[in-house]
Amino acid sequence: MSLLTAPPRLPLIAPSVLAADFAAMGADCRSAIDAGADLLHLDVMDGHFVPNLTMGPDLCRALRRTLPEAYLDVHLMITDPASYVEPFAKAGANMLTFHVEVVAPERIAPLAKAIRALGVDAGLAINPPTPVERILPHVADVDLVLVMSVNPGFGGQAFIAETLEKTRAIRPLLRPSQRLEMDGGIGPSNARAVREAGCDVIVAGSSFFGVAPGQRSAVVASLRG
Ligand code: DX5
Ligand code: ZN
Repeated sequence: MSLLTAPPRLPLIAPSVLAADFAAMGADCRSAIDAGADLLHLDVMDGHFVPNLTMGPDLCRALRRTLPEAYLDVHLMITDPASYVEPFAKAGANMLTFHVEVVAPERIAPLAKAIRALGVDAGLAINPPTPVERILPHVADVDLVLVMSVNPGFGGQAFIAETLEKTRAIRPLLRPSQRLEMDGGIGPSNARAVREAGCDVIVAGSSFFGVAPGQRSAVVASLRG
């Protein structure tokens, strides 16, 4: 059973490795796990869906090799997620989250099914400008819903508080085994609002990796509440 469906405790904390030291990725990710993080969040960007380039299946594979027990939460900010499901599944991803903005409505459930057929959890993400109504009909088809609280593309942006309305709208629709994740601009100062809006997976990039390794367990504790 997946960490998502049988979480040891909620909320789960997911440091975004986009904010880690790329020249010390293995050590930084190990420090995140040692600090009590539950998932490692990998932000995959294609320079097309978002104006940035970040990481691909090779980094996922390298982290899988060096951290065999880690849950790798892969966030696909790419125009063509279907083409990358198999490469990331083979590279050891535990979850593949694709965006509602880039997949035709009738293709969302089949893509989620294809992901799950490879033994990987399926997530569906929504950007701040996209109306929540776009995602509501598909919530039942995935393991996790990801509400973006910044416009995707870069770490270290300011939290957009209006996006909490989306999490409040989605929360009542979820089964107990489904998770609700929020991503972007989250730190100890606003994590409580995120939890109270119903999120049970919290992504933290700069607020986590921006502090010294010895202080990261305190960040995890304060995000968890
Ligand atoms: C934004 C990414 C986020 C981001 C989070 O495009 O999806 O995961 O790296 O970083 P912070 O916490 O710094 O906003
Ligand atoms: Zn992300």
